[in-house]
Amino acid sequence: MSDIKIKVIDREDKEHELEAPTDMNMNLMEVFKAYELPVEGTCGGMALCSTCHCYVLSEHKLPDATDDEEDMLDQAFFVEDNSRLGCQLKISDDINGLVVKLAPTAD
Ligand code: FES
Repeated sequence: MSDIKIKVIDREDKEHELEAPTDMNMNLMEVFKAYELPVEGTCGGMALCSTCHCYVLSEHKLPDATDDEEDMLDQAFFVEDNSRLGCQLKISDDINGLVVKLAPTAD
């Protein structure tokens, strides 16, 4: 299987069903952008901006956040227990069916 499905709830509570290839070394932030969701990804996926902050709503077992991701989330707004940086989540079969909600922006 090379495409997985991801459900994204945007900041207006609209649901989007995305399909993402597992063989292109993409991360979730890049998929948000490919679908023109309002995610800036300002730092290009370096865990330095938190514009890709989202909440994981499904029960997927995800890899633990790295120290860099934790540090950035420490500085982000509206952080919850299920907060993650989309750019740090790799598109793989393990996250097929993932459900995420975009975090509010600070402004
Ligand atoms: S794109 Fe900047 S932290 Fe994810």
